[in-house]
Amino acid sequence: MITAEGQQFSQDRSGKRIPVRAKVGDNAMYLAHRHGIELEGACEASLACSTCHVYVSSDHLDKLPDPDEREDDMLDMAPLLQENSRLGCQIILTLEMEGIELTLPKVTRNFYVDGHVPKPH
Ligand code: FES
Repeated sequence: MITAEGQQFSQDRSGKRIPVRAKVGDNAMYLAHRHGIELEGACEASLACSTCHVYVSSDHLDKLPDPDEREDDMLDMAPLLQENSRLGCQIILTLEMEGIELTLPKVTRNFYVDGHVPKPH
């Protein structure tokens, strides 16, 4: 549901869309965390990783401010980079972003690192 002061966005890794209520000024990454969505944020929004990589719905992409240089540098290191890639921790919701939909990439940089399972001896 979308209310006058609320916003909604959905996230998706396995094809499932999750509606989320949000307020203006919410940080998309922390919002995802509050709703138990598996968006990582290894560096706690300090622009030192790309684990919060998301794809932004095309209707909303141009409503976001352009990424600054540090965000661009980090995005360059993100796997599965697309035209609509952004770092979730740099997305601060405004009223204009009502209905924004953020999609999680199939893999994140951390997935590879953390996904290594050591063989038992
Ligand atoms: S959490 Fe590291 S850049 Fe967003």
